[in-house]
Amino acid sequence: MRILIAEDDDISRATLSALLKRNGHEVVETASGAEAWEELQKADAPRLAIIDLMMPEMDGLEVVRRVRALEGGKTFYLIILTAMDEAHDIIIGLDAGADDYLPKPYNTGILGARINVGRRMIEMQEQEALHQLQLNQAQKMESVGRLAGGVAHDFNNKLAVIIGYVELILLKMAADSPFIDNLKEIRKAAESSADLTRQLLAFARKQAVTPKVLELNETVAGMLNMLRRLIGEDIDLSWQPGTDLLQIKMDPSQIDQILANLCVNARDAINGVGRITIGTEAATFDSEYCDLNAEFIPGDYVLLVVSDTGCGMDTETQTNIFEPFFTTKKVGQGTGLGLASVYGAVKQNNGFIKVYSELGHGTTFRIYLPRYQGKDGDIHREDRLQSIVRGSETILLVEDDAAILAVTTMLLEDFGYRVLAANTPGEAIQLAREHSGEINLLMTDVIMPEMNGRDLARNMLAIYPGMKRLFMSGYTADIIASQGMLDAGVNFIQKPFAMQTLAVKVREVLDK
Ligand SMILES: Nc1ncnc2c1ncn2[C@@H]1O[C@H](COP(=O)(O)OP(=O)(O)OP(=O)(O)O)[C@@H](O)[C@H]1O
Ligand SMILES: [Mg+2]
Repeated sequence: MRILIAEDDDISRATLSALLKRNGHEVVETASGAEAWEELQKADAPRLAIIDLMMPEMDGLEVVRRVRALEGGKTFYLIILTAMDEAHDIIIGLDAGADDYLPKPYNTGILGARINVGRRMIEMQEQEALHQLQLNQAQKMESVGRLAGGVAHDFNNKLAVIIGYVELILLKMAADSPFIDNLKEIRKAAESSADLTRQLLAFARKQAVTPKVLELNETVAGMLNMLRRLIGEDIDLSWQPGTDLLQIKMDPSQIDQILANLCVNARDAINGVGRITIGTEAATFDSEYCDLNAEFIPGDYVLLVVSDTGCGMDTETQTNIFEPFFTTKKVGQGTGLGLASVYGAVKQNNGFIKVYSELGHGTTFRIYLPRYQGKDGDIHREDRLQSIVRGSETILLVEDDAAILAVTTMLLEDFGYRVLAANTPGEAIQLAREHSGEINLLMTDVIMPEMNGRDLARNMLAIYPGMKRLFMSGYTADIIASQGMLDAGVNFIQKPFAMQTLAVKVREVLDK
């Protein structure tokens, strides 16, 4: 290790230096207190210093006091040099803040032993500091996430109204109207804002998700073509699946979101030709490992690795990358939400993400997802969507936001459906009781005052046992947020929805 010596006596300094070097240490020699103090203030100063007490001008005691008063000065290990029998010197040295003392003349064995103690102390302190840094970072992300999630939810609802009405006007407007282009611009802006809020909701772990049991290798393999198109021809995409069966329980669209973001970032980091490697393997953490890594929890995991041969990042950049809106790209080229949403998606699934990077030497992201311990038969495979989008069935629509209720009603009616619109669950039950014909579908918001959507659906089934159910939500508060998810197999549509998405989804649920 690097060790500083502060000793004004040339022979004593040379002897000590030679001893240390012989044991493989790197030595910074200084011949006065002032010189030592200057060295110790440098950012890359040696963490262990051996300081003679008696020196002209600034003595060793003063150096010790000053180091201890430094911010972060506690992480230095300071050994004072004293004459053999000077108990008084030893006492005032330790009082001033030294960690240990070394009597002159030197005894090689004792010197080595004391340096080892110092090295252990320094390592422990560095470990502790790193641990604290990781905890602080996690707490910061937590509170930024709460803030982002709160704003995004309300904003998302307003966007649902804007998009819905624009769709409706577009539908009713004469084809030659001069306003059509303006309306399309409004829709475009609202949709890209909805994209932003979706990413913020993802970061805040409030993405509405439908987790399914997946075999990660199979899921990733199914995305390779899409990823290849995304990264272009100059970059080689190498796929190295692990040999184990790697099951996870997660919404496949989140794997999609994670890989797409990581690959786009890797593409941007590679100037010209290069390679992106995606790999998987099994991983297990014991409690020993988790004690050293603040965020990790012991257990079995599936590891997804994405590495690139790009430009890499310095440490400063690395500490910020998961923060929303942190970007090093030019205005218009990046919003800084990509990795924030990756972070949220991983956290929402109780996983961890680690980054390893060095300027000029590429970047590796390692994502650990809890391994699903279940039967193979659970594995989900995508069904094809139906594309017939109109119908004449009766839909009971329940939504507490009057504007969303109005616009969704109009859209559904335009697709040919008969709509019973209710503003509250109570009103919905009332309407259902009074209605004489069939009701084919209950389409309800999840979070409402009075009664949540899931309970309402349960009540409704007592009256109309065959009724299909479709839940809608802008995010996952209450029941959804308490676990961060819906039950597998529940029909769900995320607000705000585009007209086409709504039409397809309603038809799909009715035809199930
Ligand atoms: N593979 C990588 N290699 C080098 N730097 C990276 C890599 N991935 C991310 N970064 C750095 O992290 C920053 C944040 O990435 P993030 O994906 O969150 O936002 P962005 O790519 O800048 O914008 P957005 O993804 O919203 O379009 C990037 O601007 C870049 O500096
Ligand atoms: Mg990005």
